[in-house]
Amino acid sequence: MKALTWHGKSDMRCESVPDPRIEDGRDAIIKVTACAICGSDLHIYNGVIPEMEHGDILGHETMGEVVEVGSENTKLKVGDRVVVPFTISCGECFFCRKGFYSGCERSNPDKAKAAKLWGHSPAGLFGYSHLLGGYAGGQAEYLRVPFADVGPIKVPNGLSDEQVLFLSDIFPTGYMAADFCNIQLEDTIAVWGCGPVGQFAIRSAFMLGAARVIAIDTVPERLALAASAGAITIDFKQDDIYDRIQELTHGRGADACIDAVGTEPDATASLDSAIDRVKVATFLGTDRPHVLRQAINNCRNFGTVSIVGVYGGFVDSLPMGSAINRGLTFRMAQTPVQHYLPKLLDRIERGEIDPSFVITHRASLEEGPELYKTFRDRKDGCVKVVLKP
Ligand SMILES: NC(=O)c1ccc[n+]([C@@H]2O[C@H](COP(=O)([O-])OP(=O)(O)OC[C@H]3O[C@@H](n4cnc5c(N)ncnc54)[C@H](O)[C@@H]3O)[C@@H](O)[C@H]2O)c1
Ligand SMILES: [Zn+2]
Ligand SMILES: [Zn+2]
Repeated sequence: MKALTWHGKSDMRCESVPDPRIEDGRDAIIKVTACAICGSDLHIYNGVIPEMEHGDILGHETMGEVVEVGSENTKLKVGDRVVVPFTISCGECFFCRKGFYSGCERSNPDKAKAAKLWGHSPAGLFGYSHLLGGYAGGQAEYLRVPFADVGPIKVPNGLSDEQVLFLSDIFPTGYMAADFCNIQLEDTIAVWGCGPVGQFAIRSAFMLGAARVIAIDTVPERLALAASAGAITIDFKQDDIYDRIQELTHGRGADACIDAVGTEPDATASLDSAIDRVKVATFLGTDRPHVLRQAINNCRNFGTVSIVGVYGGFVDSLPMGSAINRGLTFRMAQTPVQHYLPKLLDRIERGEIDPSFVITHRASLEEGPELYKTFRDRKDGCVKVVLKP
């Protein structure tokens, strides 16, 4: 089959690779009908994710048609149309039973390696590092889905691929970011990053009752898309974020601040982000937490900092004094997608949101390597890429 494979920094290729096979009775194989490129793939593309290997197949936002099912899988049958969550979860362990699917303790075969870095291991993920299972991803013609009797959700007739594909990741992720904020009427929520995840966080914050959303980025078309959802926008290259948020919140700060940027913020935005960049380049640090610092400092007393932008290792110069003395709550996770799926599918079916609003580019798998670059460089008005193998 054809698949998008990683060969080092900025080097994606569309190659022929062996077809996936059923390896366990609970597996299924799907023929991919649509997949997407995520901001998390960009961290791999940019070479900041450890434990990647040449030839790894990327992709964790995938849907398609079931073409083969393992002998023990009673949930799926050939011909079912499914969306596959990016988190791989057994459905039975201590964490899965509590709904913390991205903490599954049985789906990461590399868990000893992950525990060495992080203390304990999270769940395995599709198309990510060999710290997280090294599972082949879904930017391919076919995908092997482990524990396929737990994760994949069947798509009702009448909904197009583009309407449901993002249930695999960015819609639940943006929704979770807003859910973490425990939104009350009158609340003002500030969102850093108007990429695809930020866009879903903004719309979810409104769905959950926020009075106002402040959206921060610098890319004009992303700010425009945020504004079209009703957000007040701030360009971090033109305005002082702190002053603007002070102005908008009567000097109090936002009720909750969402970090939808993560470890690779624009390095030219401020002195601290430039210093972070030098530290990472000289191996004096692993992460660049400029946005996290801003989220903390701009949050009102006893507010919430909700983190969905990904960090990999250790962050420096975090204003912990600000957080403890002012009673902030921190919430963060790789999204336990399965936990949010059914209710978000309901919202799509009821017509409350059409997630395809975020798509700007549609292409074939062969065009994938070029579109990784376009998406990373935020060129050509690119907000979200969908590939149709
Ligand atoms: N927690 C999860 O489960 C989960 C799931 C999906 C994605 N993610 C993470 O979410 C983050 C965003 O993903 P995406 O697909 O939207 O990526 P993206 O790269 O398209 O978007 C990031 C946006 O942040 C903006 N930005 C850069 N520096 C900024 C700054 N200083 N202030 C404000 N905005 C700034 C960029 O211009 C860009 O629009 C990534 O870190 C990704 O890994 C996490
Ligand atoms: Zn993702
Ligand atoms: Zn589990």
